[in-house]
Order: sequence, then structure tokens, then C-alpha cells
Amino acid sequence: MSTKTQTSSSLMETRNLTFAYGVEPVIREISLNFQAGEFTGVIGPNGSGKSTLLKLIGGILPSSPETVFFKNRELSHYRKKELAVSIAWIPQEKQMAFSFKVIDIVLMGRHPYLSPLSFEGENDYRIAEDAMKQTQVLEFAHRSFNEISGGEKQRVMIASAISQKPEVMLLDEPTSALDIKYQIEILNILRQLNERENKSLILAMHDLHLASKFCKRLVLLKEGRVFCEGPPSEVLKKEILEEVYEVKVKIFQDDEDGSLLVVPGQS
Ligand SMILES: Nc1ncnc2c1ncn2[C@@H]1O[C@H](COP(=O)(O)OP(=O)(O)OP(=O)(O)O)[C@@H](O)[C@H]1O
Ligand SMILES: [Mg+2]
Repeated sequence: MSTKTQTSSSLMETRNLTFAYGVEPVIREISLNFQAGEFTGVIGPNGSGKSTLLKLIGGILPSSPETVFFKNRELSHYRKKELAVSIAWIPQEKQMAFSFKVIDIVLMGRHPYLSPLSFEGENDYRIAEDAMKQTQVLEFAHRSFNEISGGEKQRVMIASAISQKPEVMLLDEPTSALDIKYQIEILNILRQLNERENKSLILAMHDLHLASKFCKRLVLLKEGRVFCEGPPSEVLKKEILEEVYEVKVKIFQDDEDGSLLVVPGQS
């Protein structure tokens, strides 16, 4: 049985969480505790369960009773709207079925605050504009979302999540497929949100170097289980990564900031 890790500052928690899309579980007995203000990276090979875990924590996928908690209260005991105000989820797939304008997508972040049939007010526009300034997408406000670049889309999605003013942001591979400039820009925006506004961030990531550079804590998944977790220096170890990713690696350390660089290491 999992030991109780409940504390008064626990923001999100999973207790012995197991989930299957079909018969075979893809998330197995995961017990994790996320404190307010943490910056956590969830890493692991393709198919290890990162996206599924984020969806369960965010209430996008239904979880069994007594397995997912927000502020020590079971997720299913919240009204949808309460969760929509507190938890933002940015999916891995950033396609939009319709051609919304950028401003409309950012304003969607305000929808949990609106009552039925009411429209966004001046305050909502001001918040959306601030979020667009922060992510430097204001100049695209009236362009169609489907006609801007991948990096710009990514920043628009983050602006939408910022305008939601959530306590927790769940971001599924927010920097994949972006060039190095956008990767750093977006992660710096997230770092600022974490450090200046105490936002709790949980990011699914593949880039182990960026994960070690920006995240204060890493959770490494293998086949739906937590293989290990802790500060990047404790998780990004040669023996651990070779076992989980089934490839030889070499690890170098950046002298400037201590971040770790993991590269294939065949002899
Ligand atoms: N909608 C779905 N229906 C059925 N099985 C699914 C579904 N989504 C994911 N899976 C399966 O669940 C497992 C975990 O998938 P998940 O998307 O959570 O992995 P991931 O770690 O995010 O992978 P990636 O790095 O490729 O994004 C995989 O075996 C995947 O095939
Ligand atoms: Mg995924």
C-alpha cells in the first residue's frame, strides 16, 4: 500500500493511481505529491504514460475514486467550473479544428469565469492582452491561429493558459518541435510564472537537457510506473537512463549552470 503523504500544502496528489484505456493498464500504482510552486518535469520514453498521467491529474480523463486529489480533496468532488479555473491543461496536439483568431483562443482562457450566455468584458480583454504581451504574441492577435507558425501557436496556447489565471499548469510537451530559440523563450516564460507568480507547473518533456536546466524536480516514467523521481541530478544518471531508455548514454555537465547534457554514447 502507498504510504500517506498528505500534507496541508499538497496541491495535487495521486494515490496508487492506475488507469487503463482498454484491458492493460498504462498507468500503474502511481503515488505522487506536488506541492504549490513546484516546477516538475515528467520524462520517460514514448508510450511510458506521460500524457495519460497529465490528463488524469487534470481531470481530462476520469480516474478511479480516491486516486487523484487537488488540495486534499478528490478531483471528482469538484464542479467542472471550479477545476477549469484552477487547472490549465495544454495538450500535446496543438491543432484546432476551426480557424479561430489568436485573440479568441487567448480569451477562451477566460471562459471558466463567465456565466452562461455572458460575453467577455473589459477586464477579460485586459487580462488576455497582458498574457499576449507576456508571451509576445500581441502582434498576431487578429491573425488566424491556423496561419501562424508552430512556435507562435505554442506561445498563444500558453497565453490562453496564463489568462485563465490557474494555480496549476499542466503542459504536455510545450517545447517539442520548436527551434532552440522558442524552446528557451517558452521555458523562460514558464520559469517566470513559476518564480514570480508561484504557479505550479507540471511539464511532460522529452528533451532531457532542457528538463534538467529548467525543472527543479523530475519524475521518470517507465511502462506506466514511476521509475524514480527527485532533483535532476539524482534522476539523470547513466545507469538509470540506460535501463529506462534501453540505450547507451554519456552525460556531460554544463559548467555554467550545472545542467546535464545526455547524448547517445555507443562505443
Ligand atoms: N486514447 C488512447 N486509447 C488507447 N490507448 C492509448 C490512448 N492514448 C494513449 N494510449 C496508450 O497508452 C500508453 C501511454 O500513452 P501516452 O500517450 O500517455 O504516452 P506518452 O508517454 O505521452 O508518449 P509520447 O512520448 O509518445 O507522447 C501507450 O501505450 C499508448 O499507446
Ligand atoms: Mg505524450
